[in-house]
Amino acid sequence: MSDHKRTIVVTGGSRGIGRSICRSFARADNYIYFNYFSPGDPDAEKAAAAETEKLISEAGGSAKSISVNIASENEVTNFFEKIIGETGRIDVLVNNAGITKDALLVRMKEKDWDDVINVNLKGAFICTQIAAKVMMKQRYGRIINIASVVGVNGNVGQANYAASKAGIIGLTKTVAKELAARGITANAVAPGFIETDMTASLPDKVKTAMLGQIPLGRAGKPEDVAAVVAFLASESADYITGQVIHVSGGMYM
Ligand code: NAI
Repeated sequence: MSDHKRTIVVTGGSRGIGRSICRSFARADNYIYFNYFSPGDPDAEKAAAAETEKLISEAGGSAKSISVNIASENEVTNFFEKIIGETGRIDVLVNNAGITKDALLVRMKEKDWDDVINVNLKGAFICTQIAAKVMMKQRYGRIINIASVVGVNGNVGQANYAASKAGIIGLTKTVAKELAARGITANAVAPGFIETDMTASLPDKVKTAMLGQIPLGRAGKPEDVAAVVAFLASESADYITGQVIHVSGGMYM
């Protein structure tokens, strides 16, 4: 392993898959930074972030979190400047933060299209661009983007979300090609149906229909996704780049 502490940056670490990803890095030799953002309920999001920090410290690691909207270039720039100021490095970037604003195509509001693309796709672009400049100087970096099975298969009611996740896959492959010569890998993880707040609010009818499409016969857990992210960030995955790893119980083959 490396002879210095690794700096790990995870977007959207307060809950769900992002929290599990942060926890998978909870070790004394990692600095973990994560952000979170909720325009609707900032206090609850802050409390959730504090809980993630607590879980990490109980596991022997340490993490710092801050409310940063990844769709805002200014906020993201300040976030990364703070991290660089404190640790001087970015070893791993996990672009995990994401939102849904579902509606059938013919009813989808332009604002709901823009919001989802701005957070899920533009947000990942902004974070990746800033982190890549640091990683290029280090001649080392691991970029892991959370896509979705929906970005490959499409899904009724999710034109904005599916487009953002298909975009993430294109972004991942391009970044992988552009940065490979600098020792940087970029891969995507495509979860299927995972039990988090994002899926909790789905109507039972939709949940049952989704479960019916999963050969392994169960919804996934955030830890199922986090384990693959941890592998892609580890030296065991040094020869893997530009890939999309599906973690979906076989929903997509
Ligand atoms: P979640 O809703 O439980 O958590 C979302 C996280 O993103 C929170 O930490 C929230 O603070 C953060 N966030 C939201 N908007 C943000 C913004 N503008 N700036 C910064 N942070 C922001 O979501 P979940 O289920 O954990 O999803 C995580 C990722 O996995 C997302 O990219 C999602 O699209 C993807 N995914 C989830 C699946 C599922 O079944 N839950 C399936 C496939 C992909």
